[in-house]
Amino acid sequence: MEVFHRTQLAADLAKKILHVAPGSAAGSGLFLAAPRRTGKSTFLREDLRPELESAGALVVYVDLWKDKKADPGVVIVNAVRSELAKHESALKRLARNTGLEKVSVAGVGFNLQQVGLGDGVSLSDALAALSDEEKRPIALIIDEAQHAITSEMGSDALFALKAARDELNSSAHHGLRLVATGSNRDKLSMLRSSRDQAFFGAPLISFPPLGRDYVEWFCAGAGLAAPLDVDDTFTLFKEAANRPEILGAAADELRFDFELRPEEVRERFRAAVRKQIEESSQELLRVVHSLTPAQATVLRVLAGRGRGYAPFEAATLTAYGDVLKGLTGDPAAMLDVAQVQTALLALQEKALVWRAARGVYALEESSLADVMASHGMLDGVPGTQQRVERERERPA
Ligand SMILES: Nc1ncnc2c1ncn2[C@@H]1O[C@H](COP(=O)(O)OP(=O)(O)OP(=O)(O)O)[C@@H](O)[C@H]1O
Ligand SMILES: [Mg+2]
Repeated sequence: MEVFHRTQLAADLAKKILHVAPGSAAGSGLFLAAPRRTGKSTFLREDLRPELESAGALVVYVDLWKDKKADPGVVIVNAVRSELAKHESALKRLARNTGLEKVSVAGVGFNLQQVGLGDGVSLSDALAALSDEEKRPIALIIDEAQHAITSEMGSDALFALKAARDELNSSAHHGLRLVATGSNRDKLSMLRSSRDQAFFGAPLISFPPLGRDYVEWFCAGAGLAAPLDVDDTFTLFKEAANRPEILGAAADELRFDFELRPEEVRERFRAAVRKQIEESSQELLRVVHSLTPAQATVLRVLAGRGRGYAPFEAATLTAYGDVLKGLTGDPAAMLDVAQVQTALLALQEKALVWRAARGVYALEESSLADVMASHGMLDGVPGTQQRVERERERPA
């Protein structure tokens, strides 16, 4: 597939990732946050990875969403193992360093299964051997990193990576840089907000969305019956929350309309983009419309409160009551803690709500809050206004 390359951005980020200024916390890793479907993974694979490699780093890329069923801890460990498997001399060094040389069967060598989170060879040892042998820093890119803290093993893997980072960033080695991405700021910030978290203090930056240069590139290649206007298209792209797929799908719709006259292209393209936007909102809302009143209530309050959501606090229970009264028309309606728990479980099963291992909840997809708000579903949810103000105050 054809991709618009963001070389300058990649060069800029690669420099920030690899050259850590004295006193900067960037050695802790870097978080890139951007909404869904705006091109994070594409950028990591197509632009950032090659740029880091040409700047001299050994890049290990892990996508924690590739297989949602796999334990994120296992996925991280496997990525390190398979990188090791490509470097025989690093394996030998590791076997030597860890004293496992003797136990390895002649000719078979070191057993990679020994590398992991348990008693065997730590990720720290493995990555250190890799970096020392290659004499270059390692950049570990974790796409959809928030998924790591949904399992015990995933959390363990993050702690192991913190230890590895501290070890490799000491003067004896060549450095380990962690780059993590995710689509939900609330979730990502859970990975770096408390001192006991592996990414404590790591800078969280907003990954810049595709811009006007992308739109120019898109218009130049659209191949419709008449050229698209760049300004118009850029405005539409922003309306589409910077999602390339919306523009792409709208152009496809027009491309296969053989009756389309050149003078109609602009107007029809605009209509097609708006239709795609509405369809994607409806897609998000489809599941929401199928909820029971109790589930809908919990979802609305959670969406309205955002990061301040505390599921079982007295004030939250009052808020459920207010919302449920509105939904059912029953003046005595309320939810107890057990009902809230059941509803939260159901919402997780429907992939609307995400729960971190330590019981903090967030929307699976943060854009759902905006879609719900624009369809009036957060009207009258106590606490919503605070959320809106908080989001607005939040630095970009
Ligand atoms: N630089 C680009 N040039 C052309 N198309 C792009 C570019 N970046 C992203 N896209 C398109 O946009 C869509 C979403 O991209 P991608 O999967 O990289 O986004 P994402 O932010 O990682 O999404 P998700 O939130 O689902 O992980 C894909 O169809 C991709 O082809
Ligand atoms: Mg992605």
